[in-house]
Amino acid sequence: MTTGIHQSIDLADAGDTIWTEDPCYWGVRSVLQVSGFDLKAIPVDAEGIAPAPADLAALPKLMLVTPSHQYPLGMVMSLARRRMLLEYARQHRCWISEDDYDSEFRYGSRPLASLQGMDTGGQVIYVGSFGKTLFPGLRIGYVVVPEALAESFAMASAELYREGQLLQQAVLAEFIEQRGTSRRTSGACACSTASAAT
Ligand SMILES: Cc1ncc(COP(=O)(O)O)c(C=O)c1O
Repeated sequence: MTTGIHQSIDLADAGDTIWTEDPCYWGVRSVLQVSGFDLKAIPVDAEGIAPAPADLAALPKLMLVTPSHQYPLGMVMSLARRRMLLEYARQHRCWISEDDYDSEFRYGSRPLASLQGMDTGGQVIYVGSFGKTLFPGLRIGYVVVPEALAESFAMASAELYREGQLLQQAVLAEFIEQRGTSRRTSGACACSTASAAT
C-alpha cells in the first residue's frame, strides 16, 4: 500500500530514460522531474501512446501509461497497442508502469484487460488509487509489482517512507496549532491537555 499514485511512481527508481504520454498527468511528471529522470514525452493518438520508429529505436527503461483512461484526453488504449507495448517491453527488457487511475468508472464500453493482466513477461508495474472510489484526501493507493521487483520495492518503501501514522500526525499538528503554543513549554501540562482532548 502507498499514499497514492504519486508515491507509487516515486518508488520506481528506473535511473534511465522514461517515456511519458504527451499530454500526461502533471503530478506524475513533476514527481519524476524532481527525481532527475530523463523524461521523453511521446505523443498519443486515438489508440493511446504512439511511439515513432525513432522513439522505439532509443530504448527507454520505463514507460508510464494510462491505458484505461488516458489523462487528460480520456481515450482507452486499444488492444493492438497494448499487445505492441507488452511485446516491445518483453523483447527489450524494459518496464511499463500502468497508472490505472479512474479505471473503475466506465460508462460506455466494457473494460479491456489491464496490461498487468495481459503481461506474461513480468514487465508491468501496476499502480492504483482509492482516490476516486473512496475519496482523494484519504491518500491511499497501491502498487502491484512483478515478482522480480517485489523485494526491492518493499525495501525502498520501508526505507523512504517511514512517515508513520498520518492521521495521528494531522490531529497532533492541529492540536499544536490551536492550543499548544502557550502550553508546550510545560510538557506535563501539554500532555494532560492532549489526553483530555482525545
Ligand atoms: C492519471 C492520474 N494518475 C494519478 C493521479 C493521482 O493519484 P493519487 O491521488 O492516488 O496520487 C491522478 C489525479 O488526478 C491522475 O489523473
